[in-house]
Amino acid sequence: MKNMINSSNNKITIRPYAPNIGAIITGIDLSKEITNSEQNIIKDAFHKYLVIFFQKQSEISPVNHIKLGKYFGDLHIHPAAPKMKNYPEIFEIHTDKNSKISNGAEYFHSDVSCEKEPPLGTMLQLHILPECGGDTMFANMYMAYDALSDPMKNFLNNLYASHESEHFYRGRYNKTNENVKYPSSIHPVVRTHPVTKKKALYINRFFTTKIEGLSKDESLIILNYLFEHCEKTDFQIRYRWQQNDMAFWDNRCTLHKAIWDYFPNERKGRRVTIKGDKPY
Ligand code: SIN
Repeated sequence: MKNMINSSNNKITIRPYAPNIGAIITGIDLSKEITNSEQNIIKDAFHKYLVIFFQKQSEISPVNHIKLGKYFGDLHIHPAAPKMKNYPEIFEIHTDKNSKISNGAEYFHSDVSCEKEPPLGTMLQLHILPECGGDTMFANMYMAYDALSDPMKNFLNNLYASHESEHFYRGRYNKTNENVKYPSSIHPVVRTHPVTKKKALYINRFFTTKIEGLSKDESLIILNYLFEHCEKTDFQIRYRWQQNDMAFWDNRCTLHKAIWDYFPNERKGRRVTIKGDKPY
């Protein structure tokens, strides 16, 4: 159902994208100053819908994109991706006919979960899109947790897992800087969202390499089961981008994956990532 909110001078609409996750917001111009009341509306929708899509936007400059991200917290600087000149907080997303591999999002993941304090959210705006394809999928990790049986929940509630990035980042972005040490951390398999207090599964195919305390075989089997479980279509949406849409997703309770089906066409945009807390 469409939700209409009258802010000082705009009519803001919030429309669920699907019953399980996602909402579309119109009536907030992200290239302008965001008022306190708009910030509150965005935060509420972000916590309620887990990923929100701002439609009918214009291209936001790097300076304004950084400013926008900072309404929601300090910005994270990516440990491996090349930095945009003068704007280290911006992660440029770009693939075209020269790309040998996708933009690094081809499996379901939560952004840089290998960090000790992984980012709470990511804001991505795409400016150039292929004629078709290049959709992004998002999955609801509260639902993934809730769908488990009570004995499985109890088992997972006490477990921790390693999230590593060496295997993924080394040689992928910057082949000359091989002395760099890429982040790794240990996080609970089930995390509590610091705002909603709901429990979400917190593992992903990119970064989660081992469940602590289990044998290698046990860990492999449980992780593979959980990866498949989290990627069930019931928990997902697939977002078809329009030029200059801005997506804002919550990395603490969602996974996402960019579909790499449009080669050799171009897809380009910028993202900022907002710092988060240590998962508990
Ligand atoms: C990302 O993981 O930030 C990229 C998502 C996308 O390209 O759709």
